Amino acid sequence: MNVLLAITGSISAYKTPWLVRDLRRAGHSVRVVMSASATHFVAPLALESVSMQPVIVDPFDPTIQDRGSWHVHLARWADVMLIAPCSASTLARLANGLCDSAVMTVACSLPSTTPLLVAPAMDTDMWQHTAVQRNVQRVQHDGAIIIPPEEGELASGLQGAGRLAELGTIVDAVSRMRAENSGERTIPAATHPTGLAGRRVVITAGPTHEAIDDVRYIGNHSTGTMGFALAEAARDRGALVTLIAGPVHLPTPVGIERIDVTSAVEMHERTMEHADHDVAICAAAVADFMPVDRVVGKIKKDTVAATEHTTLILQRTPDILAALGAQKRPQQVVVGFALESTDLVDYATSKLERKNADMIVANLAGGLQSGFGTTDNTITLITRSAPPESFPPMSKAACANIILDAIERLLPPYDL
Ligand code: C5P
Repeated sequence: MNVLLAITGSISAYKTPWLVRDLRRAGHSVRVVMSASATHFVAPLALESVSMQPVIVDPFDPTIQDRGSWHVHLARWADVMLIAPCSASTLARLANGLCDSAVMTVACSLPSTTPLLVAPAMDTDMWQHTAVQRNVQRVQHDGAIIIPPEEGELASGLQGAGRLAELGTIVDAVSRMRAENSGERTIPAATHPTGLAGRRVVITAGPTHEAIDDVRYIGNHSTGTMGFALAEAARDRGALVTLIAGPVHLPTPVGIERIDVTSAVEMHERTMEHADHDVAICAAAVADFMPVDRVVGKIKKDTVAATEHTTLILQRTPDILAALGAQKRPQQVVVGFALESTDLVDYATSKLERKNADMIVANLAGGLQSGFGTTDNTITLITRSAPPESFPPMSKAACANIILDAIERLLPPYDL
């Protein structure tokens, strides 16, 4: 998405180069507009470097004018506008539609269908001031989405509410706009996604290696990136994640239970121990075939003459996704992946039925922005409840959030 980031005068503006980096890593294009006071806390040049776009501070800068309509064109470029950090005075300007800065002229030019996210940051007493709270309510009532500040240590040395929301929370809130942005700007106040909080999620990831002898195996090029990204994103939403990982070279994400396995049989056994989880996501590229007999030691090359052929007798591996689907309870959500080279939607839809899954994440094999070992993925979500939904290429982390949003929509409400 095109994200227009407006930075205003709070000390937490020093975090915004990282915010730009994380938004870009989540697959978004970012352009930055700043208030004059924000430039005391973070240099425009730093933001220009990380966004790779010119930064606007002065609304009368002759180089940006676009015949005096730069603010209109920039506002129309944006799929989302994010004000982070939003100072008390910018909240007051927003509440009153006061266009006396570059940030405000563009905010007031935003089409009514473009979401406006506002992440306030200030000291506790300022945040709790009656006028500030009145402005927050007014801005929210006008359709902006408030990403509330968090409690903690403040720049003043005091403790309390007012810290800029964690960067991950802000990036998630922006990414969710893709799915939710339909119709007028009347979306309710943003909260961190909670549909997975406290739920148990099991995820398979990576390839499996099927031993031929003690030194050789059948495997594939899966790196596990998609499964690990899903595990991290689910953890960030408060889920209790068990990651069943095939042989991959990825570090264990903090706060996740990881079980390492090698073969499909092992992955099947260990996954089925967690088959009672609320959500199961089979992101592993499980080998389809394994040798019927594993040779002890190393098969000697010389047992086959240079002109002869030899045969490996193979059998099918257990299908973990189908096994999970077969014993699925009505409240559980089971999700699989389908890597196809043609007829993506047809094959994925038949896989949904055959394996009794609730959703199939289909992606095209062989594309530059899809498949094994790539940083990006190009996904289509297939469910029973909605027509297939295709997304443009984006980072696997951003895909993970889209997949989890869809899973949250499939989950039953919490038992209260
Ligand atoms: O049948 P196919 O391999 O195309 O299905 C892919 C989906 O099924 C993926 O979600 C994959 O993780 C899962 N799968 C599995 N066990 C297998 C083969 C595939 O869980 N043996």
